[in-house]
Amino acid sequence: HTRAPAGPGGAGTRAPGRASIMARTLRIDRWWAYPVSTFTVLLAFVVYSAYAAVANRDYYADPYLSPFYSPCLSWHCGAVPGSHGAPHLGWFGTWWIVTPAVIVLIFPLGFRLTCYYYRKAYYRSFWLSPPACAVPEPHRRYTGETRFPLILQNVHRYFFYAALVFNVILTWDAVIAFDFDGHIGIGVGSAVLVINAVLLWLYTLSCHACRHAVGGRINHFSHHPIRYRLWTWVSRINPMHGRFAWASLVWVALTDLYVRLNAAGVLHDPRVVA
Ligand code: FES
Repeated sequence: HTRAPAGPGGAGTRAPGRASIMARTLRIDRWWAYPVSTFTVLLAFVVYSAYAAVANRDYYADPYLSPFYSPCLSWHCGAVPGSHGAPHLGWFGTWWIVTPAVIVLIFPLGFRLTCYYYRKAYYRSFWLSPPACAVPEPHRRYTGETRFPLILQNVHRYFFYAALVFNVILTWDAVIAFDFDGHIGIGVGSAVLVINAVLLWLYTLSCHACRHAVGGRINHFSHHPIRYRLWTWVSRINPMHGRFAWASLVWVALTDLYVRLNAAGVLHDPRVVA
């Protein structure tokens, strides 16, 4: 490779004192595969969830409620023909200018947007900052997360507590997905909602903020046996956080799609009812 002189006033990888290398990167593997696939999946999720959030219909197929619309703030859930009364709060009539999902999604989306794993994922794939290790970024300046607006990423720890509340609600949705008009049964949708709740718990409990909440700021683990035990559990699943992030993201969209297709009459949920 050719070496280029570090020009005066150069920035980034051209800054004085940095090894001056002309090649864009010396990596010969497919380093672009991660940012490209991340970009594609995240963009697909954003487009789908934006559609689902503004559609404001087909989010309840008795007894299944889409996670995008849970808790159901609308009176619509209970108004679906044949419904035996979904767990709706009924705060939203038709007079709201935004759909209930737009309000509900602030919390899970805020949680994911500020997640340490997703930050790495979208900094690389959307902002190319940098696109991969040992691949220079196109930006001239780097200020990290030390100032506005990225310093706001620190709110992640608070979104974590909101996510716990949502997980409880979605777990409840999974439980009542076995209640078919007062009769206990099981349908494909029941399994879909249970898997959704399990993946969301795994994603949330493996969160770095969770690990810090249970085991952080302790000088002597021996004085805190319960927190030490919890920290050990969380530490075991924490290395898989990225995988849970993807699995729960894809599954939550598939759950909405499954409910949507049933509500629209495209699919007919196979079920066995006692
Ligand atoms: Fe990913 Fe907290 S670090 S959810």
